[in-house]
Amino acid sequence: MHDLPELPELDNLFCPEGPILEAQQQAAKLFGASETWFLVGGTTCGIQAAIMATCSPGDHIILPRNSHISVISALVISGAIPKYIMPEYDSNWDIAGGVTPSQVDRAIEDLEMEGQKASAVLVTSPTYHGICSDLREISQICHAKGIPLIVDEAHGAHFGFQPQLPLSALQQGADLAVQSTHKVLCSLTQSSMLHMSGNIIDREMVCRCLQTLQSTSPSYLLLASLDAARAQLSDNPDKIFNRAIDLAYQAKSKINKISGISILEFPMFSNFPAIDPLRLTIGFQQLGLSGYEADETIYKNHNIVCELVGNQSITFVINLGTCEDDIERLVSGIDDVSSFASILRIEGRSKFSVSAPFPDVKTSLNPRDAFFSKKRRENIKECVGKVCGELICPYPPGIPVMIPGEIISEEVLDYLLHLKSKGASISGASDPKLSSLLVCNV
Ligand SMILES: Cc1ncc(COP(=O)(O)O)c(C=O)c1O
Repeated sequence: MHDLPELPELDNLFCPEGPILEAQQQAAKLFGASETWFLVGGTTCGIQAAIMATCSPGDHIILPRNSHISVISALVISGAIPKYIMPEYDSNWDIAGGVTPSQVDRAIEDLEMEGQKASAVLVTSPTYHGICSDLREISQICHAKGIPLIVDEAHGAHFGFQPQLPLSALQQGADLAVQSTHKVLCSLTQSSMLHMSGNIIDREMVCRCLQTLQSTSPSYLLLASLDAARAQLSDNPDKIFNRAIDLAYQAKSKINKISGISILEFPMFSNFPAIDPLRLTIGFQQLGLSGYEADETIYKNHNIVCELVGNQSITFVINLGTCEDDIERLVSGIDDVSSFASILRIEGRSKFSVSAPFPDVKTSLNPRDAFFSKKRRENIKECVGKVCGELICPYPPGIPVMIPGEIISEEVLDYLLHLKSKGASISGASDPKLSSLLVCNV
């Protein structure tokens, strides 16, 4: 009954003059943007529009190597050429951090030395694990050179509303920030917001890109849910997260007391100014358990589903819907994992450690050329040294380990097969068994 089509009374997402314009303006005011666009294709489509709006084919963009898959698809769509920054990587946690201001500075200088200028810098902050980059300094570095800063803030729509939460990307000077309102706030899945600030960005270009990328029949349910999420927050912006923050601190203090368990906390990644207090990443390294093994136990015995499972940890999100019972259940689930760890080890499932092979990436084609090049299928054992033709991405957390155009190394293959053997789901591979890969005919 509420799933209505584009009636004149309901306004037009691509040329809003009525209720959609009003809703977007109220969101812009709340989130501190000069303009906000509602998105019905998730943060994915906001990132694609942001990159298309700032980079033409052949332009250079600086971005972290561990960018989300949507950023890589934006490179294919826009034809932008990536200049990757290798994020800090903690092998004990098997988690990548953000990017530092000096890395951004160096990447800009490297391009300048090659006679190129970056058309945009993109930073993911927070990361899926909640690690925040120093966006204030990064935006100053970018703006000194007239380069726009785009922030993938998919996991940070709650930032900046109260002092215990990190500042938002816009509060720190970002020009475009894309937030998955559906992840941390309460809008429907697939609904996100793109916020703009400052005067570097061509707003007309952003509008054209969004119209190119989004459905001509945007769901009014999704749009209304964005307005509802905004309204929920507007009622009480500086107190609404109090309970969630309290519960997160309670959970951390109880879990920290459980034998053999550690929690990812500031300042473990010392180069980064903050970790989202509402992300709870729990490590089992001291018990010799992988995140996949812990996940299996906690799901089977307690019916608890993790947000994110990794080699060395599992991650949970505490949010507006979390209650004390949830925390108690989680604490007793983790307690059980700790007690059962010795039994699991007797069964022979021992600790493993493998580092993601980010530093060794070599590129032969840019992502767009590789995406459109002719391809053939090769047995996975024959792939070392060939040019990858597909985007291979263990999910979650959606960090590609091979991007079209990159030369396939032995380390990358070992890492991938290892993740697969540990139960990670590998997205993007056209052969889900990973016995073969698509490679480019070059
Ligand atoms: C860091 C990051 N960026 C972007 C996205 C894409 O967001 P959406 O699912 O809203 O399209 C995700 C989704 O998981 C993400 O983790």
